[in-house]
Amino acid sequence: MKTYRVGLVGCGGIAQVHGAALQELPGVELAACADIRPERARDFAEKYGGRAYASLEEMLEGEALDSLHICTPHSLHTPMAKLAAGRGIHVFTEKPPVISWGQWREFQELEKAPVRVGVCFQNRYNQSVHLLKEVLASGEAGKVLGARAFVTWHREAPYYTESGWRGSLETEGGGVLINQSIHTLDLLVQFLGKPTHAEAAMSNHHLGGVIEVEDTMEAYLRFGEATALFYATTAHCADSPVLVELVCENATLRMEEQEVSLSWKDGTKEHFSLAQPKAPATGKAYWGASHSLCIGDFYDCLREDRPFPNDIPGVRDTVELMLTLYDSARAGDPAGRVANAGP
Ligand SMILES: NC(=O)c1ccc[n+]([C@@H]2O[C@H](COP(=O)([O-])OP(=O)(O)OC[C@H]3O[C@@H](n4cnc5c(N)ncnc54)[C@H](O)[C@@H]3O)[C@@H](O)[C@H]2O)c1
Repeated sequence: MKTYRVGLVGCGGIAQVHGAALQELPGVELAACADIRPERARDFAEKYGGRAYASLEEMLEGEALDSLHICTPHSLHTPMAKLAAGRGIHVFTEKPPVISWGQWREFQELEKAPVRVGVCFQNRYNQSVHLLKEVLASGEAGKVLGARAFVTWHREAPYYTESGWRGSLETEGGGVLINQSIHTLDLLVQFLGKPTHAEAAMSNHHLGGVIEVEDTMEAYLRFGEATALFYATTAHCADSPVLVELVCENATLRMEEQEVSLSWKDGTKEHFSLAQPKAPATGKAYWGASHSLCIGDFYDCLREDRPFPNDIPGVRDTVELMLTLYDSARAGDPAGRVANAGP
């Protein structure tokens, strides 16, 4: 079996989850890591293996890598992906792949490169998501008529001010939508298909003067005949479980993280508490525990020469919907937009 030599850039919070996942994965070797804070790279290398570098450029010069994991702030994902792809190195980047339409145009160019590009939308690998997709695919629930999705979490000022990049439009690109709730937007796309209409409004309720980005985003979406209501905020008092509910012709399907309930039109109710794969000890519950599955699938797809579900075409609808929602919210556009229409 081929062993992939992996490099990782950005040895902060989420990198720990990648490090732990890579350590346990057969057929990969964490060869090197890089961070502009050299002590972070050193600590990371000590914990997970490989050589530490003080920049991505030095790491790429010093190592023959097969793939690069990008765990840096949002605005750096596209330029770093381009740098790696230009050297024939496969790319696995944290979400979001881009922060603007301009970056999205550049990122899509990577489809022409002779490398694989994957984006970490790990919640697609949650068992509860698989179950809902199976129920929908079976046809028993009938057509989806409408959906609602709520992400109500708690973030205080230090979360932004101490990071050096969160809360700034230039480096984070946005707030609760692009960062905390993009996974849930992605799940709506997984369940409902291609969005056809999007309108949104955003506000900064509790961190005015602290962050430039939104702490709250609400959107009205249409996916053909189905409507979806989306609400995300970091102004809540706690990290409540994310809720996604699909109202279908014959049943209402409800998912609160790993709890799934199916309420059938005839009054029957079914409830499933699904065991989530064990999260690495460093992974916070709200990040979702499916990083290992997502990363493992990326390497299986490489090895078996299969398309990776979270490749560029596989994330296109979600990325374009996110950018469209920002366009709508920034324009204060009451008429809404056709999703995926571009800038
Ligand atoms: N998939 C998920 O559920 C999930 C969860 C958390 C974070 N993330 C994503 O992971 C990314 C990082 O988030 P985080 O919370 O780990 O942030 P973080 O601030 O903890 O870590 C970022 C690291 O990147 C380093 N860095 C910054 N600029 C660099 C550069 N030019 N070269 C090399 N290193 C550089 C920083 O020093 C820091 O160590 C973000 O895109 C975030 O959205 C994804």
